[in-house]
Amino acid sequence: MHKLIDELVQYHRHKATVVADIQVLIPAVEKGNVNARDELGGIFASFSSDGEKAHHHNEELVLHELVKSKKPIHARIERTAEEHVVFGQLVQRLCSEISGPFDEPAVLVANIQWFLTQYDDHASNEEAILFPAADRELSTIAWSRVGKNWIDLT
Ligand SMILES: [Fe+2]
Ligand SMILES: [Fe+2]
Repeated sequence: MHKLIDELVQYHRHKATVVADIQVLIPAVEKGNVNARDELGGIFASFSSDGEKAHHHNEELVLHELVKSKKPIHARIERTAEEHVVFGQLVQRLCSEISGPFDEPAVLVANIQWFLTQYDDHASNEEAILFPAADRELSTIAWSRVGKNWIDLT
């Protein structure tokens, strides 16, 4: 596996631990526990962090080179960049729901779970389709272009 693809996969592994931390807090948030909700807000903010934006940027560099290579691209990864934009908007909305005077914890929790399902689905598609295709199809020159614009997260 190319080392830059490995970096993307490692980020997904890290994010899975963040999601696990969120899931631990969910039952208390659902019961209306204010401290758990504050803690959840702090953890959830990582979905709009510089690291998250850099991860999306790096994936889009890889996708861009794949598109440029003219190899057939699976429809499920064509919308990767658009999904990143939608996630950014959803995260903003959820962050204000978490910190705002939202009095229906069950609805808040359902919205968060829905987002996490979409996020997981997106990451799974990247791991199953985008990353292997890039690993297989990108030339050394394409990888050097990716590397030049890569935002280092390590
Ligand atoms: Fe992504
Ligand atoms: Fe990703």
